[in-house]
Amino acid sequence: MGKSILTFIADTHHYSKTLGVSGKAFALRSDSDQKCLKETGEIIDSAFGFLSNTECDAVCIAGDLTNDGEKISHMEFREKLYKLKEHKKVYTVTATHDWCCDGNPRRFSGDSVYTDVPILNHNDIYEFYRDFGVNDAFAEYKTTLGPASYAVNVGDCVTLLGLIDDKNGRNSAGYKSAHLDWICEQIRLAVKNGRVPIAMEHHLLIPHITPLFTKGACSPDREKIINAFADAGLKIIIVGHSHLQRIDKHISPSGNEIYEINVGSLVGYPAPMVTVTADESKITVKTDYLDSFEIDGVKVNAQKYLADHSKKIISVLFSAAAQNDRELFRLRLKALGINTEKLGAWFLPLFFTFKELSRMTVSQAGRYVNKIPFAKKIPQESIDALSDFTVQQIAEKVWLNILDGAREKYTSDTHFYKVVAGVLSVPASVCGQMKIGGKPSELFAELQRAADEILTGGEISNEILTVNR
Ligand SMILES: [Fe+2]
Ligand SMILES: [Fe+2]
Repeated sequence: MGKSILTFIADTHHYSKTLGVSGKAFALRSDSDQKCLKETGEIIDSAFGFLSNTECDAVCIAGDLTNDGEKISHMEFREKLYKLKEHKKVYTVTATHDWCCDGNPRRFSGDSVYTDVPILNHNDIYEFYRDFGVNDAFAEYKTTLGPASYAVNVGDCVTLLGLIDDKNGRNSAGYKSAHLDWICEQIRLAVKNGRVPIAMEHHLLIPHITPLFTKGACSPDREKIINAFADAGLKIIIVGHSHLQRIDKHISPSGNEIYEINVGSLVGYPAPMVTVTADESKITVKTDYLDSFEIDGVKVNAQKYLADHSKKIISVLFSAAAQNDRELFRLRLKALGINTEKLGAWFLPLFFTFKELSRMTVSQAGRYVNKIPFAKKIPQESIDALSDFTVQQIAEKVWLNILDGAREKYTSDTHFYKVVAGVLSVPASVCGQMKIGGKPSELFAELQRAADEILTGGEISNEILTVNR
């Protein structure tokens, strides 16, 4: 029966440089983003060049193709798709960022942000991207918004379902019931025809790491949808949106297993490219990471560049606090989407906490934490082993682990684990000792569980997988 090879990327968020890449307003926007906004063109070109020369049958992109639906970003991105299409089949789905669902497209000049940016309307998307999905499809389902889900055969044995999950009829991500029925029918049909169904949508159906972080990135109907998919015979679903690299398993109440592969953003650390190969007996998954790209003709190490940029989210907050610049700290929080007015009386304690932490080494922070009454003590030898690191450096490393699914794993016997998990377990252990139950205790217990998931990467590898057909 042969085989099919599909490589998935996600959240390319192409941003046209014509929208402004300099000045204070752009710097605030760019530094608060895990993605490298200014360099999306160069990163995408490099990734498409790499993918043109691999053995995959198709390159598939799981939505948020552009930064925020700007027409010029779409035009430039589609040109890149046409070039890639000279070498590979290319299948895309679009998502809410591709028609600017918040109605707030932006360009940047000097200190100012302007919203007079033409966008692609959701009704324009079907025609605009029809060469990258529906034109090759043997079946399609047009959504009321305009874009269409589609089913297309790829290689010898895979049927790819490119799904538009922008709206469930209740103004949230998901599917209206007729759409869900159509998808399940396509899954059953593929299985009946001896093909492997693989689905790609934008929003999550499993809250990866912890629902505290990712529940909002899921469709509110996630359980109903994932159970329906698994029971129809789907074993692999690819999603994007969270910008995190994760693989998790779900088992439906009827006992059917399905794996969700959350592909991180291509234009942010760690720029993953996930290849799914199906043959007569199994489906295997492997993950590559972008190695390099060029800026002004100079080759840069992509992993280092992207990691350094991602860390800015944390470092700019620490640096504003260290400089005792409350206004800059407020601007940095605002750029992160935090409503600083709503913070009210919490703003100053937050600022002073960052200010204190900005000066602290692990050694000092460890001493402080171990003095907290009722808290479980962090082993002194673990604090000593990391004593030269600053709190900021530890926070940045944890942040990278969140993004890359723990490529560097810290198991429970490592000093790094004992220090980080130890700090994050303090609220839970204080609650436990003081017999505080209810919501706070549940929340802190979940935080403790999340710390384990972040540091170890969880039980399932976030890079590789083998599933028997
Ligand atoms: Fe995104
Ligand atoms: Fe998204």
